[in-house]
Amino acid sequence: MSVVPPPKQITVPEFRAAKAKGAKLAVVTAYDYTSARLCDEAGADAILVGDSLGMVVQGHPTSLPVTLNEIIYHTKCVLRGTRRALVVVDMPFMTYQVSAKQAVRSAGRLMKEAGAHAVKLEGGVRMRAAVRACVDAGIPVMGHVGLTPQAVHQLGGFKVQRDTDALLADAHAVEEAGAFAVVVESVPADLGAKLTAAVGIPTIGIGAGAACDGQVLVYHDLLGLFADFKPKFAKRYADLGAATKTALESYCREVREGSFPAAEHSFK
Ligand code: KIV
Repeated sequence: MSVVPPPKQITVPEFRAAKAKGAKLAVVTAYDYTSARLCDEAGADAILVGDSLGMVVQGHPTSLPVTLNEIIYHTKCVLRGTRRALVVVDMPFMTYQVSAKQAVRSAGRLMKEAGAHAVKLEGGVRMRAAVRACVDAGIPVMGHVGLTPQAVHQLGGFKVQRDTDALLADAHAVEEAGAFAVVVESVPADLGAKLTAAVGIPTIGIGAGAACDGQVLVYHDLLGLFADFKPKFAKRYADLGAATKTALESYCREVREGSFPAAEHSFK
């Protein structure tokens, strides 16, 4: 009898080393067991438990209300469905901005209570000390520069970021502070290419062009499950929202007309 060994979990050093090998990294968000299992079995290199769950799971207009306890709960669900992918977890708004000490405490809870493999936090130059403190505590950090959604009110909306000098400084700051990768969100494609060439860690783009070392998409955007708005950068690989609605309508109709359950769904 041959036993198929479980797939080997991707490590932080392996994820980081992909850039030098020229291997593109596929990252997708997930928030629960079932979606994480699908992403993992599909071959995602990393699953991000993103605070985008505030919008696509909780129905808020922004990610700001998401709490540390909520993301810990979702991370535990995701980890049960993951065998190969690296699981990176977003640090929610106001769980790291106050001080480097607060950042280590919050990131520590994500690693210790939730079981995260790494954390992600938003901001470049201004978050240098927080990234450094977490890394010094043994916590792998993914940075996030460009459009940082937790600063949506300060930025005046979910807008494309175009300040080349500021963004280069941000990307360098998170790399120098010890981040193993950096998300680059909503910047022109040529600037995404510039940032990718400027740093030695993988850039994971979302609306940052094809030159990035990897890409990340929100699960619900990728599958057409989120109808409130569609960001320009999100490619829909399926229209599961429409397919789900059609299936649910069929169920409701069959219950009402008495054709469900049929004999094969009933016990003798
Ligand atoms: O919260 C999230 O899903 C994210 C990605 C969009 C990068 O931060």
